[in-house]
Amino acid sequence: MAANTVREKKLVILGVTASIAAHRALDLIRLLKAGNYDVKVVATENALHFFPKETAEVFSGNTLETSAYGLGPRVSHVEWAQGASAVLIAPASADFIAKMALGLADDLLSTICLASSARILFAPAMEERMYTHPATRAHLSTLKSWNVQEIPPETGSLASGRSGIGRMAGVETIYAALQKSIEASSSDSRDLLGKKVLISAGPTFEPIDQVRFIGNRSSGKMGYALAEAAIRRGAAVTVVSGPVSLIPPSGANMICVETAREMQDALSIHFHSADILIMAAAVSDYTTENSFSQKKKKDGQDWHLHLKENPDILATLAKSRRPGQTIMGFAAETSLVKKDLQDKLLRKGVDLLAANNISEAGSGFGSDNNTISLIDHDDSLSEEKSGKKKDLADWLIDKILLHRARSLTQ
Ligand code: C5P
Repeated sequence: MAANTVREKKLVILGVTASIAAHRALDLIRLLKAGNYDVKVVATENALHFFPKETAEVFSGNTLETSAYGLGPRVSHVEWAQGASAVLIAPASADFIAKMALGLADDLLSTICLASSARILFAPAMEERMYTHPATRAHLSTLKSWNVQEIPPETGSLASGRSGIGRMAGVETIYAALQKSIEASSSDSRDLLGKKVLISAGPTFEPIDQVRFIGNRSSGKMGYALAEAAIRRGAAVTVVSGPVSLIPPSGANMICVETAREMQDALSIHFHSADILIMAAAVSDYTTENSFSQKKKKDGQDWHLHLKENPDILATLAKSRRPGQTIMGFAAETSLVKKDLQDKLLRKGVDLLAANNISEAGSGFGSDNNTISLIDHDDSLSEEKSGKKKDLADWLIDKILLHRARSLTQ
C-alpha cells in the first residue's frame, strides 16, 4: 500500500464561488480525492450557475451545501470549520474576496471562513480590471496580513475573450500549494499548548501636556511577532501593548496602554498566572513629574522639564516571581558589551536577555529584521542571530523552552 493512502484522511473544505472557472473545481475534487483527502464542497448560491451540483456530489462523495440553514442539529458550520485541515476557495471571485476581507458571514462558505482556525487558501479568478482594482488589491493585502494564502492567478485568456491577469491558477498548482500548506501546518509544533504567555510590546508614551509626550521609536513588531508565534504554538497569550500601529495578533488577549504606570498595572494583574513573561516593550525610563491638563502655550521662555525615573517594571515583577515561571527581558543598546549585558541580566533578575544593537543599519526599531544577542546565566543558551523578526520570535521561544526543560532537570 502506498504511503499516502496509509495516513489518516484529512478534511478539505472546497469553497466554490461564482466564476466561469468554477467547472475546473471538479478537477480539483478529483485531485484531492486521489490524494486521499476527504472533500466537502461548499458553494455560494451564484456559483451553481457555473457548477454542476450533482456531479460535484458524486465526485466528492458528500452532499454539496450552500446554506447554513437546514444542516440539522448534528452538523454546524462551526464543526465543519474546526474539523477541516484547510479551507480552499477555488475559484475565488472578487466579491467573495471582498467578503472575506470584510469579515462578512451571510452564507455558509463565508461563515466557515470566519469560524475556521484552519489554513485558508484561495485562488482568485476574475477579469484583469477587477483583479487590479484598488479595492481588490486592498482586500488581498488585508487577507495576506491575516496569513490567508493567495494562490495567484495566471495571465491568459479570460472569460471576456480578452487576455490578461486573472485566470485561475492551474489545478495542479492549486493542489500543490494546498498540500504544502497542510504539511507545513501539521509540522507546526504545539509545544506551548496549555501555557500562558504574557508579552509586553511597543513603546510607552509619557504625557507632558495634552498634546505632547515622551516616547521612543519602538514599533512593537518584535513583541507582536512573539505573540503570533506563541499563539501558533498553542499558548494562551496576553499582550500588554503600548501605542503602535500594528494589526493585533489574532487570538491574543490585547490590553492597550499608554504610560509605563498603566503597563505596570496591567502586567502585575496577569503576571502571577503566567508561565512565561516576555518583556519586549521599550518602556520609557523617565516620566514627567506632573503633566499639564491643557496644552502649554508658548510664552517666549525656555521650558525646563523635570523628569523622574519610572519604576523598573521587569525588575519589580521578577522579584515577585513564583517557581516555574520563565522571564525573558529585552535590551535595546547602541553597543553590546557582554559584561554590561550580564550585569543587566542579574540586575533585572531575568532568565534570558535578548539584546539588540539599535544603531545597526536595517535592524532594530521599526525594521522587520533584527540582530539579537541572547544571553543566559550559565552561557549555555547564549547565541547571536540575525533574521526576520518573525523567525527570531520562534528562535527565542525555542530558547525559552530549552531553558524551561533544563530548569526542570536540575
Ligand atoms: O534598563 P533597560 O531599559 O535597558 O531594560 C530593558 C528591559 O527592561 C526591557 O525588557 C524593558 O521592557 C524592561 N524595562 C522595564 N521597565 C522600565 C524600563 C525597562 O520593565 N522602566
